[in-house]
Amino acid sequence: MDGMEAARSAFDVLETAKVEPAVRRLPPGPDAGNATCEFAAVDYRYPAPDTDEAVLVLDAVDLRLETGEHLAIVGPSGAGKSTLIDLMLGFDPPTEGGIWIEGVPLAEVDLAAWRSRIGWVQQDPFLIAGTVFDNVRLGAAGADRTAVVSALELVGAGELAARLDTIVGERGGGLSHGERRMISLARAVVRDPDVLLLDEPTAGVDTETQVRIAASFPQIAAGRTVVTVAHQRILVDLADRVVRIDRGRIVAPAPGDLR
Ligand SMILES: Nc1ncnc2c1ncn2[C@@H]1O[C@H](COP(=O)(O)OP(=O)(O)OP(=O)(O)O)[C@@H](O)[C@H]1O
Ligand SMILES: [Mg+2]
Repeated sequence: MDGMEAARSAFDVLETAKVEPAVRRLPPGPDAGNATCEFAAVDYRYPAPDTDEAVLVLDAVDLRLETGEHLAIVGPSGAGKSTLIDLMLGFDPPTEGGIWIEGVPLAEVDLAAWRSRIGWVQQDPFLIAGTVFDNVRLGAAGADRTAVVSALELVGAGELAARLDTIVGERGGGLSHGERRMISLARAVVRDPDVLLLDEPTAGVDTETQVRIAASFPQIAAGRTVVTVAHQRILVDLADRVVRIDRGRIVAPAPGDLR
């Protein structure tokens, strides 16, 4: 797509975003041969009701996420990495520019259907009051004990699989930070998603647990499109491609980014 065409398409997206489309479209799925997600000249500002000077958090971002690829996103704190993930999930439309999901303009996408195909590990893992089982099953209401055990084992959390009925609190009482991360990952994986969006899945986790989570990645990522926001080398090295973002812009990779 050339620049002009991108700008026109972006304009169409903005126009259609103003009205609720009569028909929401299902993204055609991973086998249809489209990029999973495409950003063209995307700017994003958080709504700032009290000021006209909302900061540009994403600045002219062009990004094509191929179906089946494993992309790492790196960059300093505050660069816009989590915002990029939020836009892929359709939480807010871009301020300028266009986003397509499997070729469908984001403004027309059936967001519930799209999100049902995504496993999202949020940057701040959260737990509900309940058991380990309840917390993993939050990812897939229909999951039975066998499915929850497999998901936990897949992410390297065999011990938790043996403690399904342990009560954990809203604040993760009784669980280590690493265990909370593994529950979040298992919650994403139990959905059997086409797309995994992992926002710093090993942040604040000790090295041994990082190694364990990283070791589970080949199985977790197999047959899926994966975006991993990560600072740790061990995760970045697993990706097919690394994109660096700095102050909202995609920039050239730093020397240490590439293998
Ligand atoms: N809800 C919000 N309202 C206003 N500004 C926000 C909001 N969320 C994030 N920001 C700002 O947007 C910028 C990008 O934030 P974002 O969370 O995307 O960064 P990040 O790259 O994920 O950083 P980190 O590595 O610390 O997680 C930051 O300057 C942040 O302060
Ligand atoms: Mg973030």
